[in-house]
Amino acid sequence: MLTEAENRFFTEVSAGTPMGEYLRRHWHPIAPIAELDERSTKPVRLLGEDLVLYRDRSGTYGLIDRLCPHRRVDLSYGIPEEDGLRCMYHGWMFDETGQCVEQPFEETVHPDGRFKEKVKVTAYPVEPKAGLLWAYLGPAPAPLVPNWEPFTHDDGFVDVCITVLPCNWFQAQENSIDPVHAEWLHAYWAQQLSVDTIFGKPPSHIKIGADAFDYGMIYRRVVQGSSEEDENWLKGRVCLFPYALFIGHTYACHFEWRVPIDDENTLSVMWFLNRVAPGHEPPKQPSIPYWYGEVYDEDGRFRTSHVVNQDIVAWAGQGRIADRTKETLGESDKGVIMLRRMLKEQAALVAEGKDPMSVVRDPVANESLHLPVHDFFGTIAVGPGAGNTAHIPFQHGEPEEAIAAINDVIATWKDAKPAS
Ligand code: FES
Ligand SMILES: [Fe+2]
Repeated sequence: MLTEAENRFFTEVSAGTPMGEYLRRHWHPIAPIAELDERSTKPVRLLGEDLVLYRDRSGTYGLIDRLCPHRRVDLSYGIPEEDGLRCMYHGWMFDETGQCVEQPFEETVHPDGRFKEKVKVTAYPVEPKAGLLWAYLGPAPAPLVPNWEPFTHDDGFVDVCITVLPCNWFQAQENSIDPVHAEWLHAYWAQQLSVDTIFGKPPSHIKIGADAFDYGMIYRRVVQGSSEEDENWLKGRVCLFPYALFIGHTYACHFEWRVPIDDENTLSVMWFLNRVAPGHEPPKQPSIPYWYGEVYDEDGRFRTSHVVNQDIVAWAGQGRIADRTKETLGESDKGVIMLRRMLKEQAALVAEGKDPMSVVRDPVANESLHLPVHDFFGTIAVGPGAGNTAHIPFQHGEPEEAIAAINDVIATWKDAKPAS
């Protein structure tokens, strides 16, 4: 149970709050690159700030204040020009540093005037990586966008799922260190709902553990029929700081980032990689496709058919901001308790002017940041769903073309043998 002040500590994301400052030391995935290929501006709300993401005609990305400083219109309707974003109302133009670089009528009336030099809006750096655009809202110098090892693989099919979650980011992230929920939410409940489950028969948890590693935490489990010699205990699974889950196998993996939009909303960004078996050609991907995940069904109820939809029912069901003054934690929450303790330590580091965990500044290390993956060869030939012969999407709404491409990739493993 937390006090009200402690609950605010973890859930408030605006600048000047402890978590707001902590989160501002990290890069945030905010949009698929392919989305900006289709339309060059996108309204973005990130950590409580209203911004516009754009790509100008020279290919430079910018993330600047949403509202024009002249008379406050919405620049997500602005016009991308060769070197900046032009406001569609009176033509003022801004570059990616936020500097006003053109004021057409002002410059006509006062050719020698220097008014535009005095006009500058908030602007944040943007970098492309792994099919996503990443933004950094913290103090300079910005660290590196983490180059996780799966981003370096070019032997698979990648797709991205974006979803707006109607709840605070921390509810989703506490789930990243909560092994026992899988037994109930994704196995037992899924069976009751008669939906395909990637977990098969519910295995009872016998033992769970959590510990720190370089980029966050590892959670471990022993379930009925397994032991501490199994990868679920030896390697565990990854709760990546500041706010991601990483599930990795040698043949497939995915990240789930829970990017805070504001205190009451979260952008779920999921990145999936399905690799072909050695010796097979991966599908050609000129750009990384993306899809928007659906949260509600036709009746306005939460969808429950897929793993992440089941998670969303749990997270959003806790309310926009879970009232942790009324919770009752037990043995299954040891990871959650440790996560909260570690985040307090991380926020304290930031307050002292130090880098928190998972901030990367060494370019050599960043050539490939290793995360634990399971070999788990036994399920390779049947894809992510043990006992299933075809791809089961993690969330409702994955396009048919992506499912077909992933099934082609899974089929390459049919006759594969373990490396040893
Ligand atoms: S409101 Fe943007 S130029 Fe006037
Ligand atoms: Fe889950």
